[in-house]
Amino acid sequence: MRLWGGRFAEETDERVAAFGRSVETDAVMAVDDIDGSIAHVDGLAAVGLVAPDEAALLRDGLRALRAEVESGTFAWDPALEDVHLNVEAALAARIGSVAGKLHTGRSRNDQVVTDLRLWLRRTIADLDTRLLRLEDALVGLAERERDTILPGTTHIQPAQPILLAHHLLAYVEMLERDRGRLADGLARSDRSPLGSGAIAGAGYPLDRDATARALGFSGPTANSIDATSDRDFVVEALAAAALAMVHLSRLAEEVTWWSSPRFGYVRLSDAFSTGSSMMPNKKNPDPAELVRGRTGRVIGDLTASLATLKGLPLAYQRDLQEDKPPLFDALGTLAASLDVMAGLVATLTVDRAQMRAAADEGYITATAVADALVREGVPFRAAHHAVGRLVAEAEERRVTLDALDDLAIVRVLAASEDPVAADLALRPETAALMRAASTVEAALASCDVVGGTAPRRVAGAVAEARARIDRERGDRGPTP
Ligand code: ARG
Repeated sequence: MRLWGGRFAEETDERVAAFGRSVETDAVMAVDDIDGSIAHVDGLAAVGLVAPDEAALLRDGLRALRAEVESGTFAWDPALEDVHLNVEAALAARIGSVAGKLHTGRSRNDQVVTDLRLWLRRTIADLDTRLLRLEDALVGLAERERDTILPGTTHIQPAQPILLAHHLLAYVEMLERDRGRLADGLARSDRSPLGSGAIAGAGYPLDRDATARALGFSGPTANSIDATSDRDFVVEALAAAALAMVHLSRLAEEVTWWSSPRFGYVRLSDAFSTGSSMMPNKKNPDPAELVRGRTGRVIGDLTASLATLKGLPLAYQRDLQEDKPPLFDALGTLAASLDVMAGLVATLTVDRAQMRAAADEGYITATAVADALVREGVPFRAAHHAVGRLVAEAEERRVTLDALDDLAIVRVLAASEDPVAADLALRPETAALMRAASTVEAALASCDVVGGTAPRRVAGAVAEARARIDRERGDRGPTP
C-alpha cells in the first residue's frame, strides 16, 4: 500500500518505483528520522492533536523501532521507497492505526531535511574526532623527530632548511582550519525545519521552538520555503570535506615521493603499504595513493551537489533527493582517509641521515648568508647578488657554501658595486662570519620569528599543539 496512493487508480510502473527508490542510501538516517518523529509526537501531544495515551503508544513504538535499527534487526522493505515510509509503515505494523496520526502537520519535505541536519551533526562530531586523531599522529611524529632537518623546497627546488617538525605542523594548521570550517557550516544549519510542512508551514499551531530545542537545535528555521528547499548546509559540508581531502592528498603526495628510494626520506610500515602481484621487489604506498585518488571523487561530490541545485526553482523538487549520495560518499571517504593517514603517519620511520644529507644539496643556506651581509649593513639586493656569485662559484667547484675558502669569499665581495660590501672584503673577520652563517644549523636558527622554523620556535609550537590536542582529546573521553 502506497502511503500517498489515495488519488491514484493505477499501480506505479515498476521502473518508476525502482528509479525513485532511495532507501538503500537514506536508511543510514533511520535513527535521526525516528528521533525527529518522537519530537514531533511530543509537539502534537502538546497541542492536543494526539491524546496522551496515543502519544505514549506512538513514542513507545518509535523507541522500539529505534532499538531494532540499532541492533540491525529492523525489517527494511525496498518496496517502501525511502527511510521515512519504511519507518512509518513499520510503526503501523507494530501499533496499528494510531500510527496514521504521526504525519499530522508534517511533510517528507521538512522531515527529510530535519533528518539530514541531525545526521550531519553527529557525522561532523565524528569527523572532528578523527581530524583531531590525525593531528595527534602528526604532532607525535614531530615530537619523535624534534631535531630532524629537512631541505625545504619551493617549486620542488631546494629552497631553505627547515625542521621536519615545522613541516608537519603546517598540516596540523590545515586540519585545524578544516575542523573550523566543518563546525562553522554546522552552526549555520543549527535550526529545526520541522513545522515547515511541504512548503507553506504546518496547518496546526505547533510550538516549533519547543520541537527545535527537543532535537538539540538552537531554534526553528525562519522561512518554510527556504527550510524545505535549501541545501546550503549540504554544500558547505561538502566544500569543507573536499578541502580537507585536498589537504590529505597533498600529504599523501609527499609521502609517495619521500618513500621512493630516490628520496629515501621515509619508510612506510609494512602495515601501511602493499606489494605488487608481479614484481616481488615492490613496496608501494597504495594507501596514500588511494587517499590522493579519492580526493578527486570527493571534489566531484561537491560539484555534483552544486550542479543539482543550480537549476531548481523554489521550493522542494525531487531532484533534492540527489543531495544525499554525494554527501554520504564524501563524508564517509573523508572519515576513512583520515583514519588511514593517521595510521600511516603514526607508523612512519624517518631516515634522519638521508634527510640531513639532502640538506647539503642545492645551496639552501644562501638566503641566510645574504641575511648575514644585510646585518653588516649591505643592502639586500647587493647581498643577494654577491651571494648569487658565491653560489655560482661553489657550483663550479662542486662544494657546499660553507666549504668555500676565504679568498673566494673576499674576491666576490670586493667585486661588489656596493661600497659596504666592498669594505667588508677588507675586514679580516668577514669570511669567517659568512661561513658561520652558511651552515644549515645557523640558517635554521636565523629564522627566529613567530611562525618561523628556528628550533626554539618550533619546539614552542610543538608543545603548544600537544597541549591543545591533549586538552581537547581529554575533554571528549577515551577514543574507542
Ligand atoms: N526521499 C526524498 C528526498 O530525499 C524524501 C522527500 C520526498 N518528498 C516528496 N515530496 N516526494 O528528498
